Amino acid sequence: MAKFKINGGKPLAGSVRLGGAKNASFKLLIAACLQKTNNPVRLLNFSHIQDVEVTREIIESLGGETKAAGERTIFVNAKNLDKWQIPTKFGQKSRASSMFIPILLHRFGQAFVPFPGGDKIGSRPLDRHFQGLQAMGAKINQTEYGIELQADQLVGTEYNFEKNSHTGTETLIMAAVLAKGVTILNNAAQEPEVDDLIVFLNKMGAKITRTDTRQIQIEGVERLGPCIHKIMPDRNEAVSYACAALVTKGDVIVENAKPELLGAFLEHLERVKAGYEVGDYGIRFFYRQPLIATDMTTQIHPGFMTDWQPLWTVLMTQAQGVSTIHETIFPDRFQHVAGLVKFGADIEFVQPKVADPDQTYNFNLDESNKVEHQHCIKITGPNKFQPTSIDVYDLRSGATFALAALATTGESWLNKVELIDRGYEYFDQRLRSLGADIVRVE
Ligand code: EPU
Repeated sequence: MAKFKINGGKPLAGSVRLGGAKNASFKLLIAACLQKTNNPVRLLNFSHIQDVEVTREIIESLGGETKAAGERTIFVNAKNLDKWQIPTKFGQKSRASSMFIPILLHRFGQAFVPFPGGDKIGSRPLDRHFQGLQAMGAKINQTEYGIELQADQLVGTEYNFEKNSHTGTETLIMAAVLAKGVTILNNAAQEPEVDDLIVFLNKMGAKITRTDTRQIQIEGVERLGPCIHKIMPDRNEAVSYACAALVTKGDVIVENAKPELLGAFLEHLERVKAGYEVGDYGIRFFYRQPLIATDMTTQIHPGFMTDWQPLWTVLMTQAQGVSTIHETIFPDRFQHVAGLVKFGADIEFVQPKVADPDQTYNFNLDESNKVEHQHCIKITGPNKFQPTSIDVYDLRSGATFALAALATTGESWLNKVELIDRGYEYFDQRLRSLGADIVRVE
């Protein structure tokens, strides 16, 4: 078990460069397996993160080849893919396995994927993915161990997502690119990682068009070929370093951060009077004056992203006044609250008034996700933190507690920090380069 020892209370300063987005990288590795020539796909700008490594292991377990070369390039050659079952051990390691379904169905007409693991942010059903795959002709059987699917030939269809699904949209795009005929996805996700996948697949020879704001049309093609693609920068990493700068009253440039990917975050920074400046170098985030409290609701893109919410919570503990945070995407994404209270945060759960719960919440409202469950917090700041020792339980809670520790004068300990490695490249080294006193102890 690895730990971080953090001696906080020091303003961060300097610059960091973002790596490739976690939530684009591993999906593009998977999508690269849709082509079967002997020429590899070349993907650039990879981050050295666990989710990428696990996806490479899965591809190799299926008979494909991946090779890292140079600083940030991965070659993928799926010509010799010869297995249609993903070993169950990969289920808990990553949420990637279900996204292999289209690849395995196109190649073998059948697939077995274990139930996906990943973050502990509430139940994460795949019903929207499955309904879409069924509409394209797949037969699905859920067993004790995972999901079995069968489809001799996927066929284009018109499918309406009842509610937004980011990876659901990506899974159906991958299913549709080699399906027979045209597929239209209505109420399709607009998250920027979806567009990175679309650009990549079109380079491989797919015919995918955004025909309306939330509509995607895919004309099935016979085959795809290799291409070279540079993965988009990670917008969650950008927000993490931005919040780290602001919470420590520092001044940090996030090189290659793209303002168009961070619109709702920048808008909220203006509301709370945090400093930021966009330049040809990226975005500079700096402390300007005491932050002021505000209300924030997580939303699908282009709204305020749910992944930024735990990091935003830390920022609001340092703002003057009462802030609220209303989580509408995941049913259970406030586990970081108990940890922050341990640091000294003044946070309580409140019941928001919601006129139309089914419209407001992106998760399915059923017995396990009742609207009366707690989806909103109230923070009364600013809070003075005291050092503490705390267990990380997932990727974003890890970054969140690291930020809290960086804002705290004295020595804090974060345990089980391997979970941060799933999505942050050299997190401690980068924070150290910005002046943080952080040491990794294995
Ligand atoms: N949902 C269903 N049924 C479905 C699909 C989704 O009930 O078939 C629910 C989910 O449980 C959730 C909500 O609908 O409550 C939204 O789910 P969505 O499918 O949009 O999210 P996702 O694809 O599972 C991706 C990212 C998340 C990110 C969200 C929102 C990846 C691998 N994951 O999840 O990132 O928070 O979109 O943008 O792309 C992370 O990086 O740690 C992470 C959790």
